[in-house]
Amino acid sequence: MKILVIHGPNLNILGYRSKKHYGDKTLDELNSMIVNKAHELKYEVDIFQSDYEGDILGKLHVALRGEYDGVIINAGAYTHYSIAIRDAIEALEVPVIEVHLSNIYGREDFRKTSVIAPVCSGQITGFGPYSYILALEVFKNLK
Ligand code: DQA
Repeated sequence: MKILVIHGPNLNILGYRSKKHYGDKTLDELNSMIVNKAHELKYEVDIFQSDYEGDILGKLHVALRGEYDGVIINAGAYTHYSIAIRDAIEALEVPVIEVHLSNIYGREDFRKTSVIAPVCSGQITGFGPYSYILALEVFKNLK
């Protein structure tokens, strides 16, 4: 099992962003949790972060070539308006799980819409770093 984890814009500045919403872990600390869990589950994992929509699309296009068994994506603010990311996810045949650190339904109205949710297999939102850990667990049971 090989999983691609994509972190979108501003997730590289975790630890400096609102601790109330995102906790105090840095991206490196979050990534260590992801790698440890992946090893425990005996998955291979690739982790990618970009602030740029085009780079995220490029990585999703790599997944289109069949290199991964599944994708976990926190598209950050792009979640709420990127039809381009939505369309790239829609083209994928492997399961894609949308994750968020904060509960996007408990915040501003503009965060309550996810344009990618309809083309993802499911969404895990509001559990901080454990949103990613739960998503990794899901793949164990999807096949
Ligand atoms: C986020 C929620 C988004 O609304 C926000 O723009 C982010 C992070 C989350 O993980 O809670 O950058 O995706």
